[in-house]
Amino acid sequence: MDKLLLIDDEADVRYSFERIFGSKDALQLSTAASGEEALALIPQIKPDLVIMDVRMVGITGIETLQQLREFDTKTPVILMTAYGTTQTAIQAMKHGAYDYILKPFDVPKLEELVAKALDASRLMKQVVSYEPLPDKEDYDLGIIGQSPSMQEVFKTIGQLASSDATVLITGESGTGKELVARAIYNHSQRDKAPYLAINCAAIPENLLESELFGHEKGAFTGASGLRIGKFEQCDGGTIFLDEIGDMAPSTQTKILRVLQSGTFERVGGNKAVKTDVRLIAATNKLPETAVSEGDFREDLFYRLNVVRIELPALRERKKDIPQLASYFLQRYSSDPEHIKTIQADALALLQDYDWPGNVRELENAVQRALVMAKGDAILMDNLPHEISKQKLGVETDVEGDDVEGLSAKLFHWARNNPDLKVIPAVERELVINALKETGGNQVQAAKILGITRATLRKRVEKFSIRQELSIE
Ligand SMILES: Nc1ncnc2c1ncn2[C@@H]1O[C@H](COP(=O)(O)OP(=O)(O)OP(=O)(O)O)[C@@H](O)[C@H]1O
Ligand SMILES: [Mg+2]
Repeated sequence: MDKLLLIDDEADVRYSFERIFGSKDALQLSTAASGEEALALIPQIKPDLVIMDVRMVGITGIETLQQLREFDTKTPVILMTAYGTTQTAIQAMKHGAYDYILKPFDVPKLEELVAKALDASRLMKQVVSYEPLPDKEDYDLGIIGQSPSMQEVFKTIGQLASSDATVLITGESGTGKELVARAIYNHSQRDKAPYLAINCAAIPENLLESELFGHEKGAFTGASGLRIGKFEQCDGGTIFLDEIGDMAPSTQTKILRVLQSGTFERVGGNKAVKTDVRLIAATNKLPETAVSEGDFREDLFYRLNVVRIELPALRERKKDIPQLASYFLQRYSSDPEHIKTIQADALALLQDYDWPGNVRELENAVQRALVMAKGDAILMDNLPHEISKQKLGVETDVEGDDVEGLSAKLFHWARNNPDLKVIPAVERELVINALKETGGNQVQAAKILGITRATLRKRVEKFSIRQELSIE
């Protein structure tokens, strides 16, 4: 019989677990209301699987997990959290959690996860290898993402933390590849050693090799002295090679060799130099295509592709948009005491948009809107044109007979400005424009507006337009 231990300070959660798992024959459920209680209980009951809440009165789930790992390295632990933060996800995996789930949870999913974890528990008890990770201070990563695909990314980062594996990060421009590379570094054992980022696309092809590997004096015209390259400078540290798609074949060969043997020669030299560097690479092109087209060495690709993190495009995780938007609002607010909000219609537009430039484009849009917004909320009008035109289905400059588009725009404008009496305001503008256009000719102006001259005169009266236009 499998033994399951649930730790949660909320009686309701313990109760629902009893309902879900209490009656299963092959399972014996115990519960604890705090981390302290659980730690005392575990040596006695020896559970096969522990499920616990992260936020609890007393010691937290992560702390409980850490303390548990001091005497029990194998029992799988599933953490439950209502706060799907990057930090929790990464911390949880780093401290050896088996998995984590977000509350409120879906019962079939939970049951499936429990079954999988129990299988893993059986296997774990056969193999004896688990190194509890050293405790590291928390890093504020600033990677936002509640969507399942981003949660997977966080899990992978957490799992990678202790290894020196080469990582290949792919994804469209602006999806956060550089951010993820930094996060991997910050969470790695090399976080006290240097981190060097090199954008391969920004360095001319003929200089990249010497940038990376250095050169001997006189290696080529202009090489007046010895130069130490990045791979040598960064010994013991981490190198982030961005845009690896753009690299000359000879440079690719050298990189492959460094990865395989930890040695290279400076350009123009023949002495093997040793270096110990962890490599993280990124590209916004599909590396498989570059390989099949012969632009990228296949063996290097496989060597880089040991761990692959594919960042999903923002349009594939639209769920993350509101949280990202409010993160950028906070980040770019000039006054932290008064952080602007986003009005509901404007947020809806952000969520509808396809974001070809991904998170970077969203970040720029929010930054810009903050500058444009006058009150304490961002309105539709404050968003860049390509986003605001979306829902209305019209260009801002209304042309031809697109009355529908115009009235939709007016309607939204009115809704965003509740103090405004929209119909009189619009009428007044129309009359003024018509009179300006016709040089004050009331007959013509009335014709343009489709009203009688008498009606026009009444409007001129009512809105006190006369003074403004200085017409008779
Ligand atoms: N998940 C995220 N949470 C918060 N900010 C993000 C996230 N993803 C990306 N950003 C922000 O978006 C911008 C672009 O991210 P980044 O430079 O990492 O993209 P990239 O994938 O490297 O793009 P490129 O291929 O164009 O180099 C950065 O300012 C980054 O801080
Ligand atoms: Mg980048």
